[in-house]
Amino acid sequence: MKLLSFLPLAIGVLPLVASVPLTKRALSASDQSVLELALYLEHLEHAMYSSGFQNFTEQQYESAGFPPGFRDNVGVIASHEQTHIDLLTTVLTSNGITPIPTCQYKFPFTDPKSFAALANMVSTVGIGAYIGGATGFSDNEQLLTAAGSILAVEARHDAYVRTEIGASPFPTAFDTALTPVFAYNLAQMFIVSCPQPLPIIVLPKLNLTSPMPPQNLQPPVAAGTTLSFAWDPSKFFVSVDPNAPLYIALINQDVQAPIFQEVTKTGSGTGTVPLPANITGVAFAVLTTFSGGLTEAQLTQYGTLAGPAEVAVS
Ligand SMILES: *[C@@H]1O[C@H](CO)[C@@H](O)[C@H](O)[C@H]1NC(C)=O
Ligand SMILES: *[C@@H]1O[C@H](CO)[C@@H](O)[C@H](O)[C@H]1NC(C)=O
Ligand SMILES: *[C@@H]1O[C@H](CO)[C@@H](O)[C@H](O)[C@H]1NC(C)=O
Repeated sequence: MKLLSFLPLAIGVLPLVASVPLTKRALSASDQSVLELALYLEHLEHAMYSSGFQNFTEQQYESAGFPPGFRDNVGVIASHEQTHIDLLTTVLTSNGITPIPTCQYKFPFTDPKSFAALANMVSTVGIGAYIGGATGFSDNEQLLTAAGSILAVEARHDAYVRTEIGASPFPTAFDTALTPVFAYNLAQMFIVSCPQPLPIIVLPKLNLTSPMPPQNLQPPVAAGTTLSFAWDPSKFFVSVDPNAPLYIALINQDVQAPIFQEVTKTGSGTGTVPLPANITGVAFAVLTTFSGGLTEAQLTQYGTLAGPAEVAVS
């Protein structure tokens, strides 16, 4: 098949580099950290889409209800991610920065359907990271333009995948920006090991335990559904009175403030909240002692006990 030979060929092809003179300006420390996180996430997405392409045949996709050509499009998405990797690598290298290498990953998909559901969740993190990272480029218009053009393509990928799993391609009028710390932490569930982790804090884990078959990959959740979470209080960075009320803050769409729900504790390190009706698309949950009023940036800086965890709502 044509595409099989195209994928490896994409390595080393740098179509954007010739036309966008990204390499002429020195990078600020902030530019560098945004680019490194982008590269870290592009490696993750490339590995995921490549496994989705390689691990299932066209026949397996069609038997699972996907239209003819879906698998080829997964391959095209993988090749786009490789092209993004090549561009980011070139920008870093030409500024004297050694690009971070790829990690070892584990992806909790077992069939074409769970692959596509996972692809939506991972793409949503990538999209959120580009939106949230854009402010780090504010002194570099060329990088901002390049990041915007990558972001648009990532959103097309996600809309396509969402359509083919029967979800709305555009569930919300606004996407959710992720702070670099939250984007990096969401990626950690797929990392087995990394030769060079990024200098970003790894927060205590918040696991969505229900609904969640298989691990970390739950089907869309309706309003009112009980979300069950697990965390390890001994891992908190601050000491918290075991009797203090805890809250789950749900981050979803930039124009809305995070929604805080009090946790009904079901044990030490476990509890539930109902999913509010006005959340759509994909939401990000963090455990906090604050009952409300914090922005995502404030939750990132000091409000998070554990998390974030990703919840696919619609
Ligand atoms: C995809 O296939 C590769 C090679 O056989 C295997 O190592 C990997 O675990 C598979 N990925 C998934 C998610 O099944
Ligand atoms: C959360 O999930 C991870 C990965 O499966 C596991 O290693 C960890 O023990 C879990 N933590 C809690 C508190 O359930
Ligand atoms: C969404 O619902 C929650 C809880 O039901 C409520 O507190 C919040 O104000 C609502 N937010 C918006 C933007 O409607």
